[in-house]
Amino acid sequence: MGPTISIVKPPETIRVPEVEKGVGCDFDSYLLMPDTSLNERNARAKAALGNRVVILGHHYQRDEVIRFADFCGDSLKLSQQAGQSRAEFIVFCGVHFMAESADILRQPHQKVILPDLNAGCSMADMADIDQVETCWEQLQEVGELKVVPVTYMNSTAAIKAFTGRQGGAVCTSSNAAAVMRWAFERGEKVLFLPDEHLGRNTAYRMGIPLEEMVVWDPHKDLGGLPEEALRRARVLLWKGYCSVHQRFLPEHVERVRREHPGIHVIAHPECRWDVCELADEIGSTEGILKAIAASPSGSKWAVATEIHLVNRLAHQHPDKLVVSLDPNVCVCTTMFRISPQHLCWVLENLVAGRMVNQITVDTETRRWARQALERMLNLS
Ligand code: 13P
Ligand code: SF4
Repeated sequence: MGPTISIVKPPETIRVPEVEKGVGCDFDSYLLMPDTSLNERNARAKAALGNRVVILGHHYQRDEVIRFADFCGDSLKLSQQAGQSRAEFIVFCGVHFMAESADILRQPHQKVILPDLNAGCSMADMADIDQVETCWEQLQEVGELKVVPVTYMNSTAAIKAFTGRQGGAVCTSSNAAAVMRWAFERGEKVLFLPDEHLGRNTAYRMGIPLEEMVVWDPHKDLGGLPEEALRRARVLLWKGYCSVHQRFLPEHVERVRREHPGIHVIAHPECRWDVCELADEIGSTEGILKAIAASPSGSKWAVATEIHLVNRLAHQHPDKLVVSLDPNVCVCTTMFRISPQHLCWVLENLVAGRMVNQITVDTETRRWARQALERMLNLS
């Protein structure tokens, strides 16, 4: 189901004289605003809203946006934060699946806003609910396979609800191993959605050999696999990937080690298996952040993840060398869609008593998706 835009009146109009009345619902006028004026306007609107708003920012957001975030984190930390905050409005500076997860975990009085509805995730779009339902039916026809679904946070609310209904759980890149272990206590096989690489990297590090994993291609009958392969496999990996992380290659690791002897390579688990094998460490965005912060002055790091986080880390640690593993900029173009102009538009509209870009998940989807998310949160 696509995002819904609602324009509703909050229970009371917020009276804030210092913010110009007449700010429109129309985003176009914000496009012309120079970045220089936005810092001040965003700060003013945020101050006017006070504790009625909480701004959550994923590590891949731009600096001009992240400076207004009350909480900055990876998808696990932000989902926990969404469930704990008391603010009336949760403005999620991230991508669509993250805002949906916040809406699933929010308290009844809260509303979730995504500053740009076009901020999606191509990986999440690779698992369509109809394809996943077909996969599940076909697996049942093969026989008593005892499969437990595990879906990465980077999936639509419909996929999370499917996972909850079928007794499975959500995972993030920082707790995928714990969730997979949980799933193997309940079944013989795991269907891992939608990131092939996170599934493979996690299972392999739990001691499951590559020969016991198969890739399910949703565009082929029975995933393009012989029945026998499905019966033998312990992990069924959905054929999905992140176009940003898949760009990191083994030759990048070899080159950076040649250019900077002694450099430490750390890769996000959405990277290919061969890259993770060559890396010194694997870490979620939060894990990367902690590893670099804990390293001694003078240490050298090549990081395989989105460039905004890499640049921020380089800036925060001037006493260390922090470079991207791929010298060609790896940017998540959908995370980048959240601009200071979008943030200003949603905040000033809230100040004026209007809500734009609300994300709402329907009640039934929410019920099951919440179960899958809570199973994960109970393990974290
Ligand atoms: P994290 O869970 O590490 O924040 O990753 C989210 C993401 O989208 C990475 O591409
Ligand atoms: Fe999706 Fe990849 Fe962007 Fe993360 S970096 S939001 S997985 S496209």
